[in-house]
Amino acid sequence: MRWHDHHAALPSSAPRLHRASHGATRLRPYRGPGPAPSQSPPALIFAALVVAALAALALLLVMPAQAQEPKQGQKQGRYGLGHPATAEEIKGWDIDIGRNGEGLPPGGGTVAQGRALYDAQCASCHGVRGEGGLGDRLAGGEGTLASAKPVKTVGSYWPYAPTLFDYIRRAMPLTAPQSLTDDEVYAVSAYVLNLNGLVPDNARLDAKSLAAIRMPNRERFTADPRPDVKDVSVRK
Ligand code: HEC
Repeated sequence: MRWHDHHAALPSSAPRLHRASHGATRLRPYRGPGPAPSQSPPALIFAALVVAALAALALLLVMPAQAQEPKQGQKQGRYGLGHPATAEEIKGWDIDIGRNGEGLPPGGGTVAQGRALYDAQCASCHGVRGEGGLGDRLAGGEGTLASAKPVKTVGSYWPYAPTLFDYIRRAMPLTAPQSLTDDEVYAVSAYVLNLNGLVPDNARLDAKSLAAIRMPNRERFTADPRPDVKDVSVRK
């Protein structure tokens, strides 16, 4: 094969490689202070993704402002973007439940209702009796915390029952968080507590009865000893 033929057969990137091998287009090595900046493709792709994510975020922030009819004097700040969060918008985020039941919504649910819901939407990950699987074990384990193999579950570990409502409502089922109604969260919380022997089969839980449950491990947390921490007791 002659030299020309060989070249003609190369892919389009070949001439560049060829030049580089003669030094014509080779990048000069980094001689600045500190380590050479990383220019590896993954770093560049990551940077591009970050830029794209920031752009998308900026769009999201701008859109509600555009959707609203701008009224006189309503524009905010230097750039005239956004609007003060409405009470309705804040309500969507303000869903935390205090350890003693502060913020628990009206409504309620029974162990029986919770069992049906659990079997349909939770058992695939947490096991039919809460024994765990893809998801954490939710039941049993009492008396194991001081052993070499502590089994932390809702029953053996959690100090407060209202935070169970908070966790399930905010985060579960893992594939569809915040899809359950408040009544459904009460019901499935009741069932998880029932699996742990903490409420009877015929129990119905609402804000008052959920907050009244004394979790077995409540007294066994130690207080935060740092001197600048006020209200150190978790037992109140
Ligand atoms: C697709 C799997 C999946 C499904 C379905 C699912 N979970 Fe979970 N769940 C998980 C995983 C994984 C964790 C651990 C999450 C973590 O630690 O960040 C978890 C954690 C939990 C915890 C906290 C356990 C602990 O002690 O920290 C509770 C309670 C819980 N899930 C309840 C439920 C309930 C109730 C349902 C049904 C409404 C449900 N889960 C459905 C996967 C799932």
